[in-house]
Amino acid sequence: MLIRKRRGWELAESQATPEEVFRNRRRFMRAAGAGSLLLAGGGLLSACDDMNGGSQANAAESDAFDQLSEDPSFDLYPVERNSRYQVERDITERELAGTYNNFYEFGSSKNIWQKAEALPIRPWTLRIEGEVEEPFDIDIDDLLARMPLEERIYRLRCVEAWSMVIPWSGFQLSHMLDLARPTSNARYIRFTTLEDPEVMPGQRAGWYPWPYIEGLTMEEAANELAFMGTGMYGAPLPKQNGAPLRLVVPWKYGFKSIKSVVSIAFTRERPVSFWEEIAGNEYGFWANVNPEVAHPRWSQAEERVVGNDERVPTRIYNGYGEYVSELYAGMDQDDRLYR
Ligand code: MTE
Repeated sequence: MLIRKRRGWELAESQATPEEVFRNRRRFMRAAGAGSLLLAGGGLLSACDDMNGGSQANAAESDAFDQLSEDPSFDLYPVERNSRYQVERDITERELAGTYNNFYEFGSSKNIWQKAEALPIRPWTLRIEGEVEEPFDIDIDDLLARMPLEERIYRLRCVEAWSMVIPWSGFQLSHMLDLARPTSNARYIRFTTLEDPEVMPGQRAGWYPWPYIEGLTMEEAANELAFMGTGMYGAPLPKQNGAPLRLVVPWKYGFKSIKSVVSIAFTRERPVSFWEEIAGNEYGFWANVNPEVAHPRWSQAEERVVGNDERVPTRIYNGYGEYVSELYAGMDQDDRLYR
């Protein structure tokens, strides 16, 4: 008899946070991020100056979700939850997830949601290029119509040592691979964020290597956990969270989950990502969550839970080891693997 062992992050349905808790659409609350100063040429943890808390600092009335009803994809949501992916912690308050952000294109503070309202998300074209049978452009609404949308609750662990639990909507990245038809030469995928300094004030800061770029190996991209986010909390993705399309790779530090993607290129060479180019010894290509490998400037052993500021131990691969550890079997287990 086959007895299915419950994996570490899976919970009985009864233990999961009830849906009503996060489906309450319009709640205004006091929340915003502590501003954080990014020094010229510095790394993310200039943004980590809030490690000791700050999710309730700079309290402000938030109307961070008002724009969503104008999103043409609004009626697609909510989508059915995939109950295979459960998390033992409470889902983060929607208002916190929508007002405490990292989106350097709009500035280095956590409180960028109002600035992000300037992001034009229609029309939005995704370019598929590189080592594919035929490069093509696809309109975001065509893409949404072709992809099987579902909801997944994932942990998000930022390299800055804070964490959230987010109900994403979107589709498994592997469906996009089927659509893109990469050739056998493709070994990596390079994702690129929109570059438009007119609407993204952060991109006028010349010391950053814009546009924001991130990469995965083809094997990572084909893993069932790799997800393209198009919504969250049963609604379209707010602009500050990376509308209309972002990557979500929950076993890696949050900076890998690139926002507002305009191009997906299949490559033979490993792409150099944005943060890797800025400080490769602090934000390496792999960036798999690992509590045992400290960032050069702070420990990764624990994380602060945004919302209650509780400190909890960080888990290898952010608790998703049973899905992804085999991707890294046989690789040199040196420190760089986890940075
Ligand atoms: N993508 C872009 N284009 N620009 C960014 O600054 N920040 C990253 C990631 N994706 C970032 C990005 C970091 S550091 C984190 S922790 C997550 O987005 C934060 O996602 P959230 O604001 O939706 O929580």
